[in-house]
Amino acid sequence: MRRFSAEYLARTRAGMWADSRAALADLALDSRDRIVDVGCGTGELSGVLREESEAEVVGVDADTDLLAVAREELGGGDDESDDEFGGADSPDFSPVAGDATRLPLRDDCADLVVCQALLVNLPDPTPALREFARVSSDLVAAVEPNNAEVGVDSTVDREVTLESQVREAYLAGVETDVALGETVARRFRETGLSDVRTRTYYHEKRVEPPYDEHHVESARQKATGEGLDRHETELRRQLTSSEFDALRREWREMGREVVGQMADGDYRRVEVVPFEVTVGRVGG
Ligand SMILES: C[S@@+](CC[C@H](N)C(=O)[O-])C[C@H]1O[C@@H](n2cnc3c(N)ncnc32)[C@H](O)[C@@H]1O
Repeated sequence: MRRFSAEYLARTRAGMWADSRAALADLALDSRDRIVDVGCGTGELSGVLREESEAEVVGVDADTDLLAVAREELGGGDDESDDEFGGADSPDFSPVAGDATRLPLRDDCADLVVCQALLVNLPDPTPALREFARVSSDLVAAVEPNNAEVGVDSTVDREVTLESQVREAYLAGVETDVALGETVARRFRETGLSDVRTRTYYHEKRVEPPYDEHHVESARQKATGEGLDRHETELRRQLTSSEFDALRREWREMGREVVGQMADGDYRRVEVVPFEVTVGRVGG
């Protein structure tokens, strides 16, 4: 299983859903009683679900370290996996340790099962979607990035070309389909979900003065090469050893330029990641 740090999730989700939540309209959040957020991580989407609904939200994840952060951020008792959620005194966020392909939850116990950036990390999303349909009595939804369509602009010119080079090699070297995007709708239909709809949310990440802690950390990780090293396995599948070393050298130089421009208050960067929000109905 691909692992994520709480720091990475906080940094890459910062500002997500803050500008507009229109793309979540088909989830009909205001009419939900019980929602399961699968692969909830630190609860970035769970928090939005709680804000937009009166529902009890259960966050399921296989990584108990991330669940502990979600519990801290959103409240909730100990791991609730032994209890069925929905009890009269259950908190409105319940963290549950579990695998997306074998959810530790009863049939039809929720009226929405949703995930954000989970399917792109699974070797095969279909078994998880079948589980979503088993656990939900009404809607199933997925918010999945289309990583092949990410757009970047930067005051450091070579950041744009290097990122595009790295993205291309990463997409070719990664073992799961991280650019699922529009194909999620087809997978929903193949799972037997009906009335399938898709809307796109463009998550725009802007770096400009005054820089916050996430911006500074991201620049630091560029300059040290840490950000690139996170994808080393995938990149090395596509690049020779000397190509990878050369790319890493150039990447770190680029990172130092970013840090330099930041020190002068001149650095600006915009990244737009399209997330496809797909919703389908169980049965019908
Ligand atoms: C990219 S993170 C997304 C986290 C969160 N949904 C968000 O958008 O910030 C993917 C999450 O899926 C979890 N995950 C990956 N494979 C899983 C599996 N088979 N079952 C449950 N969780 C899984 C990871 O631990 C991680 O928290």
